[in-house]
Amino acid sequence: MSGGHDVTRRALEVVRPSIRALTAYSLNRPAGEGEVVRLDFNEAPHDVPAELKAEVLRRLGERRWSHYPEFGSPRLARAIAARHGVEPEQVVVGNGSGELLLAAVSVFAGGGGTLLLAPPTFSLYQQMALLAGAEVATVPRRPPDFALEVEAFSARAADGERTVPLLCAPNNPTGNPASRDVVARIARESRVLLLDQAYVDFSDPGDDAIPLLPELPHLVVFRTLSKAFAAAGFRIGYALAHAELAREIRKAVLPFSVDLAAEELALALLERPEFSRGAVETVRVERERVRLALLSLGASVAPAGGNFLFFTIPGTGGAALFSELARRGVVVREPSPAAPDHIRVTVGTRSENDAFLRALEGCR
Ligand SMILES: Cc1ncc(COP(=O)(O)O)c(C=O)c1O
Repeated sequence: MSGGHDVTRRALEVVRPSIRALTAYSLNRPAGEGEVVRLDFNEAPHDVPAELKAEVLRRLGERRWSHYPEFGSPRLARAIAARHGVEPEQVVVGNGSGELLLAAVSVFAGGGGTLLLAPPTFSLYQQMALLAGAEVATVPRRPPDFALEVEAFSARAADGERTVPLLCAPNNPTGNPASRDVVARIARESRVLLLDQAYVDFSDPGDDAIPLLPELPHLVVFRTLSKAFAAAGFRIGYALAHAELAREIRKAVLPFSVDLAAEELALALLERPEFSRGAVETVRVERERVRLALLSLGASVAPAGGNFLFFTIPGTGGAALFSELARRGVVVREPSPAAPDHIRVTVGTRSENDAFLRALEGCR
């Protein structure tokens, strides 16, 4: 088509410069040959049980597919509120917690505010800030243990009218949990604190920050059913906050973002908490077994509160290890520039973890 290229170029010139400069988020999943063990996305090792799937499909069959779901998913909001002992008005449901994090970043830090991060942390936060038109400030975590620098982070959080700290705890990719005390200390220095607890089910039960909500009405906690509840394929997340903050966040979420199927699955999973509890316990036991095996291979392993481990083997570059493992049929998360010598590996099933440890030994 003659002139087509010029027309496209002129359209591209309209793209916001900050978006044009952004490298598209990519997830490098090497293809591998033969059987490949995938331990790169922090997915649950065990699937939703077949009988629960059948029950969800049955319930879904009884619903009217031509109609929109109920606005705001009130049934699901009630079930989540009951689970955590809060009011339904405090719950915002979304298409995965990612959608709600983006909404909250836009609402609080968008249009010229500053999002405060402690990298290495979830790489999408940076992209969310950019989409929302927020600046990013950082208080980096340092090896070998990547602990949060609580004093420096709190001091920076207190600095500026529109500084919005976003803390991930347990932190992806390093794994560090944060106790309620630490969360409360940071919150007290902040106008508002966004706390992403996607992995908290795998941490110490005392790290769950939701019981802090009554005393910290400026705390927003993000949770997901993608990890401990094994529902990543259906996209269900939620945020909990004071009802007035929840109302503001809801304004930035498009209506009906939780579809019928996701809603039925979420309701069924919340009715059967024993499934998630059992799966979490299995992951915690395996996490400790793999951690000890890594230590015996000479690795340095960061404190692990999630369903993954973050480690380095002195003298081995992260990129080389990543490729060597992939060549041996085990795919882990590609190292990030923020910690190029470190590898993040998801805790899988017992046999997947054994395959990972065998491959790692083979790399030495
Ligand atoms: C720290 C963190 N927050 C949020 C998410 C997004 O989860 P969801 O599947 O609920 O969108 C992820 C996904 O991996 C994550 O690692």
